[in-house]
Amino acid sequence: MKHYKIAVLAGDGIGPEITQEALKVLKVVEERNDVTFELMPALFGACAYFATGDAFPQATIDICDQADAILKGPIGLSHEESKKIPVDKQPERGALLPLRRRYNTYANFRPVSLPKALAHFSPLKPEVIGEGIDLIMVRELVGGLYFGEKEMGVNEQGLRYVRETLEYDEEQIRRIMHQAFKLAMKRRKLLHNIHKSNVLKSSVLWNEVMEEVAKEYPEVKVVNYLVDAAATALCLNPAQFDVMVMENMFGDILSDQGGGILGSLGLMPSACLGDDKAYYEPSHGSAPDIAGKNIANPYSMIGSVAMMLENSFDMADEAKNVWAAMQGVFADGFSTADLSKPGSGVKMISTVEFGDKVVEKLRAMPKV
Ligand code: IPM
Ligand code: MG
Repeated sequence: MKHYKIAVLAGDGIGPEITQEALKVLKVVEERNDVTFELMPALFGACAYFATGDAFPQATIDICDQADAILKGPIGLSHEESKKIPVDKQPERGALLPLRRRYNTYANFRPVSLPKALAHFSPLKPEVIGEGIDLIMVRELVGGLYFGEKEMGVNEQGLRYVRETLEYDEEQIRRIMHQAFKLAMKRRKLLHNIHKSNVLKSSVLWNEVMEEVAKEYPEVKVVNYLVDAAATALCLNPAQFDVMVMENMFGDILSDQGGGILGSLGLMPSACLGDDKAYYEPSHGSAPDIAGKNIANPYSMIGSVAMMLENSFDMADEAKNVWAAMQGVFADGFSTADLSKPGSGVKMISTVEFGDKVVEKLRAMPKV
């Protein structure tokens, strides 16, 4: 019997309620497989700041250090509420970036996937979607502007100024490229390299290293795309993409656009992998405006569990079942409020009902 320790950081806003549904699914996985999960809940984000004065407290660090994998809900407060916390202690800077840095989770995989049968969820026309949307964004997660040196002050002319640095070394670029090429080899052998080398020197080095790494994967066809053009292309013809690789900031922006073309950020799970530790989180924020209403979509959180099963616990087949269970709920005509707008024909269910239905579907599936 395998045994895994999972640090559970439910986070802020809708985090706790969508995490609850993900844990229900995990429980069923435990029932169906020769595996036990030891859940280790810990405070992380604004909730941790208000309880302890620290958004990533030592007690949480200790739990994450011990864990085989970390399941993390969204964090953060509304723009107004955030102002009540000193800038450097706010959950994004005080918890999330330190988490990414501590475990060096440089490879962020963000699937953007919508089967043809669910094309009605997307704001794109059916003829644009064609056979469905199925791509993965590979985002570098611990470099670039997010982690470069920052400075704020008053300059010699008495004007307030700010300086943030975008820095990558070749090794940081090389390792994310290897991840992207390896993924491309498992899929359509097509890699879109996203850059802005017409302006940014960082992209010039990025592309240079990409070309060096590409020599090791001669079967993969590389298409170079400027990031702004890629943003348009994602709306006009998403089917041309399969694996897309990009630096941190571009990945932040384009992956939210990925949620946009699917119809909801609630459909965006992610895996953040380092060499020694991985954590899993929805790509979206904590949606404080709908928190506690039992209307949030738990798909991204349950999908993050599926990615954890596959990447951390070597349970790819059961992960497929979790995906299929969620698709099954959609196929039956149900979804949460984000995807069941009036006139859509989709029957609205709550967060808890969505989780219950996934559990029911998963229980009914043949064991692997
Ligand atoms: C994401 C989020 C984070 C990011 C925020 C919460 C700091 O938007 O994971 O995409 O910008 O990386
Ligand atoms: Mg983002």
